[in-house]
Amino acid sequence: MEINILVICYLIASITFIVGLKMLSHPESARKGNLIAAAGMFIAILGTIFLYQENGTKLSNYGWIFGGLILGTVAGTLAAKKVKMTAMPEMVSLFNGMGGACAALISVVEFNHINFRDEAADSLTLLIIFAGLIIGTVSFAGSMIAWAKLNGRIKDYSFNGQHIVNLFIFAVIIILSAYYIINQQHTTGYLFYLVLVLSILYGIFFVLPIGGADMPVVISLLNSFTGVAAAFGGFLYNNPVMLTGGILVGSAGTILTILMCKAMNRPLTNVLIGSFGANHKSRNNDNKDQGNYKEISITDTAVVMRYAEKVIIVPGYGLAVAQAQHVCHELEKILTERGVEVTYAIHPVAGRMPGHMNVLLAEADVDYGILQEMEQANDQFSQTDVVLILGANDVVNPAAKTDPSSPIYGMPVLDVEKAKLVVVNKRSMKPGYAGIENELFFQPKTSMLFGDAKEILQKLVAEVKNV
Ligand code: TAP
Repeated sequence: MEINILVICYLIASITFIVGLKMLSHPESARKGNLIAAAGMFIAILGTIFLYQENGTKLSNYGWIFGGLILGTVAGTLAAKKVKMTAMPEMVSLFNGMGGACAALISVVEFNHINFRDEAADSLTLLIIFAGLIIGTVSFAGSMIAWAKLNGRIKDYSFNGQHIVNLFIFAVIIILSAYYIINQQHTTGYLFYLVLVLSILYGIFFVLPIGGADMPVVISLLNSFTGVAAAFGGFLYNNPVMLTGGILVGSAGTILTILMCKAMNRPLTNVLIGSFGANHKSRNNDNKDQGNYKEISITDTAVVMRYAEKVIIVPGYGLAVAQAQHVCHELEKILTERGVEVTYAIHPVAGRMPGHMNVLLAEADVDYGILQEMEQANDQFSQTDVVLILGANDVVNPAAKTDPSSPIYGMPVLDVEKAKLVVVNKRSMKPGYAGIENELFFQPKTSMLFGDAKEILQKLVAEVKNV
């Protein structure tokens, strides 16, 4: 009877994971989705602790279990409450690394169970144990490096032939694992730990050379690794909820990685092996005289926005850097009160992490209803009087559509140049993440409004109030 209740607990948990994940796909339902999935996980954990039995015996080491649970809950809650929005990728990386470590530890524990039993395990079980160990460890070590790089503790590092060394380590890991699985009875268990050490090394070398700003893509990839490693744990324990959770994380992470690469028009290999701007900068920038750009004053910008019928704001990385989301929302409200239709155009990879702009604007309580996705916004620009670009650069660069030699050629971008007037706020003419110049800034319809986004927006708010 109890076993059946446990199965029902797992079923409920699996369903909540799927429903929660589905709800995460929209900002309005995301918070609730997260809570629903967490509640499902809570049910699965309690069910396992109190109802799980092996050979008729229930778990008894409650002190250890609840000690760990309390420690983890306190540490996780404090970390999540304290984290700044800009440090979110770091935190995701840290949590993801812990997941990878858990999956690897399951393999270590189960390997020792087999070893102590002193009898041959079947090859499939060993294969699953090794796969969980390798993938979980790579995810753990890689995520730790990603975390340390994002918070500036360590710098990008690479040496000539690093990819060859990585491939070599990976090959040795596979060969040693295969050798052990095939010859387990005649082989020392130390090979298992050698594979563990080599996997740590591989995880470190895999992430060390990747450019800091490419980290979100890599974190998402490592996230999918953790999911797959957890799914192997589910196989091992014949535990459906672990299997479902692992598969969901694995596939969601893979899809997100692919989507990010697509939205940046970069093959994954380019993220993993190449550095974006560094390779191409000279190609696009050299020998190209873009002509002159013109500037606009705060007062003129306030006037054109105040008397516009339709304004679209394009937020970018610079808005996040300036932490100008609240004052941006203030400007939007004041314009709306004065009868201007104001919406936001959100590019999928604006900023430096998935959903960066959505999270940023949600923090300032911007209504989700006025956030337009790229395709939607692109249909609207031609009927728009003013586009105000706040700290965005690559995501509005027309070279992505017109210049086959540009490193961002083929990346879908916002068609801002279709609007009647384009005002670009940034601090200088310096390039953005891709390290390339932007011909939009030199087009006749474009005017530059130089300055820190927060200061500019504060002044604009004051001016619009006076117009
Ligand atoms: P970017 O192309 O990086 O441009 C940001 C611009 O903001 C810069 O040109 C900078 O110019 C300006 N800026 C910086 N601080 C500012 C401040 N305080 N006030 C005003 N402006 C400021 O940003 P984007 O258009 O959002 O594009 C994102 C880029 O990141 C894309 O190339 C994308 O592929 C890449 N990327 C995104 C992700 C994800 S998942 N979102 C992950 C990895 C890479 P000044 O220095 O002149 O001010």
